[in-house]
Amino acid sequence: MKKLVVKKSSPLYGTITTSGSKNSALPIIASALLSGEECVFKNIPNLEDIQTMLKLLKSFGVKNNFKNSEIKVNASNVNYYRADYELVRKMRASILVLGPLLARKRRAVVSLPGGCAIGTRPIDLHLFGMRKLGADIYINNGYVVAEAKHGLVGNLIKLPFKSVGATENILLGSAIAKGTTLIKNAAKEPEIEDLCNCLNKMGSKISGIGTSELKIEGVKNLSGVQYSIIPDRIVAGTLIIAALITRGILKITKIYPNHLDLPIRILKKMGADISIAKNHIVVNGKNSQLKSVDIVTEPYPGFPTDLQAQFMSLLAIVKGNSSVQEKIFENRFMHVGELNRLGANIKVNKDRALINGVDKLKGAEVMASDLRASVSLVLAGLMAQGETHINRIYHLDRGYENIEKKLNSCGAKIKRI
Ligand code: EPZ
Repeated sequence: MKKLVVKKSSPLYGTITTSGSKNSALPIIASALLSGEECVFKNIPNLEDIQTMLKLLKSFGVKNNFKNSEIKVNASNVNYYRADYELVRKMRASILVLGPLLARKRRAVVSLPGGCAIGTRPIDLHLFGMRKLGADIYINNGYVVAEAKHGLVGNLIKLPFKSVGATENILLGSAIAKGTTLIKNAAKEPEIEDLCNCLNKMGSKISGIGTSELKIEGVKNLSGVQYSIIPDRIVAGTLIIAALITRGILKITKIYPNHLDLPIRILKKMGADISIAKNHIVVNGKNSQLKSVDIVTEPYPGFPTDLQAQFMSLLAIVKGNSSVQEKIFENRFMHVGELNRLGANIKVNKDRALINGVDKLKGAEVMASDLRASVSLVLAGLMAQGETHINRIYHLDRGYENIEKKLNSCGAKIKRI
């Protein structure tokens, strides 16, 4: 079982380029199923989850290859429409093939994704959206069996809350449906905007992009495309915290600062020295005397739940009392127990974690539980005395491309053993 050994780090100095967004790449790769021509996607990070999505497409008979952060997919013929449990259990986002398979093949058999560490992760809103588009759906032996004999038909779909995945599945299902779809209360994450822009470049007619009301006028078919995806705002946010937590100076390039507007505003309010340019930012941790703060996770443009664990590692050593309220997932505090093993003083009360800042953390054996919790332990290890051994780092590899290489290039001492 591989693990990371993280030594206490001197202040990080240097420049790190942000990789492409995992949560943008996954739905955009699935969109290739809607076109019978070759699609080329650029700036794709080389991650486990991306490989899983490509294996899924291959299992449908869809040729694809991936090299030097560029993916070529050609779905001229889609022979199968069954997404097996073996692949889906590895990555919940596999459910995003449901919409495009239904739109293209009028049938889809997709394994229920099952839960994961951070919550039960139901897909009821995905199924609600597909039914609204005219699909007949039932669950059989752990599989979603969906059929749209006469093809999908546009409709008015009001989401009870801004589900990212459900919004993406409805976009993918309605792009080539007959007639117009209106999604009310759609999620507005930058990754949704990226998917809409890519679909429009393929010939879709989506308007209201960037708002919570998306109108999709179904078109007959979509052409191939060359599209470069947005940078990963969560990776960028993680790097910002690495600079602050080691009191170093990092220049983070290939990022859209406006995608991190609220987290950067909160950090500046805490006293962080962050200067912003068009597509890079400079974080000066040396100049930053940080004050405690209270954060609440919310759908975009609120504070991103995917940065909550990383923020908590920083707050663990900020003097005073801070709090983190997690309102998106019901069980996303697994990193708290691990941070407390490093000497943090954090108490969880229902959906709120109360953090009492300590002077220092001390290295120990800890265990990663999910993608973002694992990187929060790396961040904590960077400033914990001695060595921190992080087990189950396969979680880390799902979402971070060579994170130890990037941090070591700026002075960190992280070994994979
Ligand atoms: C996406 O997950 C991201 N994953 C998550 O990132 C991210 O944390 C989440 O959005 C919120 O921003 C990808 O994009 C691949 P949701 P998703 O549908 O689509 C509940 C990471 O670390 N819900 O907005 O699953 C759900 O259980 C991952 O990269 C239903 O109840 O998020 C959760 O409590 C983790 N029924 C809440 O809504 C549904 O049908 C938000 O889920 C769908 C969701």
